[in-house]
Amino acid sequence: MKRIGMLTSGGDCQALNAAMRGVVKSITNAEKDVEIYGFLEGYKGLIYGNFTMLTGKDFAGILTKGGTILGSSRTPFKLIREPDENGLDKVEAMKQNYYKLKLDCLVILGGNGTHKTANLLREEGLNVVTLPKTIDNDLWGTDMTFGFQSAVDIATEAIDRIHTTADSHGRVFIVEVMGHKVGWLTLNAGMASGADIILIPEIPYDIDKIIDKIHERTARGSKFTILAVAEGAISKKDAKLSKKEYKEKMKNYHYPSVSYEIADLIREKSDYDVRVTVPGHTQRGGSPCPYDRVFASRLGSEAGKLILEGEYGFMVGIKNREIIKVPLEEVAGKLKSVSADATIVKEAKMLGISFGD
Ligand code: F6P
Repeated sequence: MKRIGMLTSGGDCQALNAAMRGVVKSITNAEKDVEIYGFLEGYKGLIYGNFTMLTGKDFAGILTKGGTILGSSRTPFKLIREPDENGLDKVEAMKQNYYKLKLDCLVILGGNGTHKTANLLREEGLNVVTLPKTIDNDLWGTDMTFGFQSAVDIATEAIDRIHTTADSHGRVFIVEVMGHKVGWLTLNAGMASGADIILIPEIPYDIDKIIDKIHERTARGSKFTILAVAEGAISKKDAKLSKKEYKEKMKNYHYPSVSYEIADLIREKSDYDVRVTVPGHTQRGGSPCPYDRVFASRLGSEAGKLILEGEYGFMVGIKNREIIKVPLEEVAGKLKSVSADATIVKEAKMLGISFGD
């Protein structure tokens, strides 16, 4: 008999269900005597013992379904050691529920914050296997996270659609792509859709360089310019501020997001007609793309194999197209960001894409 606890934590993304289905199918195909405890709304479910019993049937027909059948929530790692409003020790509560239900292991699907907590639970002696989800693709130890390709498709389509209207009206368009800390999504969607300027958190921009690029395009006869801007894009000036100074600046920040500030600066310094489009959470919504369905299923299958073999303390990931297992302590707390000297950035620059640097 295997007793498996499962939860999805943090911002959702496509293929969470496909990944869970992969885990459950691979285990139940090999072993009939399995109990699955689905903790609801992420770590909250494990903390407060809020779970539902699931069978193989619950995972049928969900390969293509977006979101997560278990629900999700953010449980910030920095607060995990702090008691809740009723004085409950959250880590102790998670351990107690694990032991009370006599679980053999926890299957945890999540991104960066989720992995810090998963590693903490491992350090506390629980058996944990994790799967890498996030549209940001910023998890250390894996070339790819599921959700990323689906989000690239959506953001690309959003920018594709802007091209025609930008052309008709001769406008400068800023499309804001998700990603506060890293620019993988913006970089890939920007390149896929032929954006002229790509701004990502890892490469601070200079507004004058952005305007130079627009002028250059106008001088060449282009009627419009498209900017793919990450939520976390930052100016060179702001990047030089200390954490405290930046926090101070943000207190009086009156723009909904950085794209609106950039739009205003372009307007102030030129005569261009500028518009901002924010696809927002549509990038995380809907059905996973075929790549993510296959990838998440492969990860699920390998996670199932680890569980059947009683190998715990790993995240399953992908390296050079092979599914691998990475020790959780190597993954937790590290961010995989875009390097300013990455080959892909150099290649993009050779194509004439400006990073505003
Ligand atoms: O981490 C995934 C992500 O979608 C980021 O790209 C985005 O900045 C953030 O989550 C949005 O978070 P929330 O759904 O809590 O608004």
